[in-house]
Amino acid sequence: MASAEKPSGLVPAVAMYAPATVTDLKKGEVKRWCVCGLSKKQPWCDGSHKGTGFSSMPWTVPEDQKEYYICQCKHTKTPPYCDGTHTNLPEGVKERQKNCPNKGTDHKPECKLCTKCGWLPEF
Ligand code: FES
Repeated sequence: MASAEKPSGLVPAVAMYAPATVTDLKKGEVKRWCVCGLSKKQPWCDGSHKGTGFSSMPWTVPEDQKEYYICQCKHTKTPPYCDGTHTNLPEGVKERQKNCPNKGTDHKPECKLCTKCGWLPEF
């Protein structure tokens, strides 16, 4: 996975099952892609990953371009770009959260993110 800091075994939250259309970028500009899915400034990092084991991914804008489709489901295989993975994701996410080994212990309102399944208290 490019240079995204997604430690093996950690599952991010799905910020949205669709990419963000970004139009205001300049070639050479460095952005930090949210890897954990918790940022309130999607698709970019706002520091919310602290304490989760995730880090943001630096991305240098390759070209002046009108539109980039940046992944917000956090499961793309070509970060930070959307590769269409989000279309088949919802059922798998529900199943993983339903069968999460930490469901009984960690899925509580005070939990920031269950990195075993991507569960958030708002779900
Ligand atoms: S939004 Fe993540 S692959 Fe499309």
